[in-house]
Amino acid sequence: MNKQPIGIFDSGVGGTSIWKEVCELLPYEDTIYLADSNNAPYGPKGKEAIINLSIKNTELLLEKGSKIIIVACNTATTNAIDYLRETYKVPFIGIEPAIKPAALQTKTNAIGILATKGTLSSELFSKTSGLFASHVNVVEQVGEGIVQFIESGQLYSTEMKSLLKVYLKPMIDANIDYLVLGCTHYPYLMPLLIDLLPAHVKIIDSGEAVARQTKAILNKHNLINTKNRTSISQLYTNQDPKVMTALLDYKFDVSYLDF
Ligand code: SIN
Repeated sequence: MNKQPIGIFDSGVGGTSIWKEVCELLPYEDTIYLADSNNAPYGPKGKEAIINLSIKNTELLLEKGSKIIIVACNTATTNAIDYLRETYKVPFIGIEPAIKPAALQTKTNAIGILATKGTLSSELFSKTSGLFASHVNVVEQVGEGIVQFIESGQLYSTEMKSLLKVYLKPMIDANIDYLVLGCTHYPYLMPLLIDLLPAHVKIIDSGEAVARQTKAILNKHNLINTKNRTSISQLYTNQDPKVMTALLDYKFDVSYLDF
């Protein structure tokens, strides 16, 4: 048993979609979450900038005693996780778009993927896509602007709905039956996506799979906390905490931290 916390970081508030799944599956683990909202979005930034931001977040989580780090950001995973794994001793869990299950299960032979430019243009993404989805029509769409809307608290605005309509149109025209969410901010769009997509389209995100993988890696390294105890979650943002507090339905305290 190891009482050190699980460290989680994202370019902003979206990675809390992963944090929630982790807390549900691993209720006795303490967690520390860093929302680097000051630097969001990571998507349009270059690889070097994304690696440097990931180093900054990782070192802060290590200073705070993290035993494992979840990179709860697709863009940071696809661009920086190899560097982080080579540089630091703790295990890292990354988030990759769930393209494999969608490509295996599609009946229409067409799947959609909504992600940032940084994720879609990464080597890791083209490798995964080539490996598992070369036999299907993959309709890729950069979700430009979506993260900014969520980070500014405009989740259900009419502008957001109009943007999504434009992004989903080529996918609907291609008759997709699976939509893969390739950014941890996007699960918060679920009600809007369900409303805009035909009823037969299934939406896949990586949250549950990431929580399961975290549990497996904690077990493998003998780091898991199985003792029935009340866990502590520390949630930090380097922007105004009110956006994250609202996103979490005012159920958790979020603190400002200058990092
Ligand atoms: C972003 O910061 O651009 C989005 C984060 C992600 O890719 O999950």
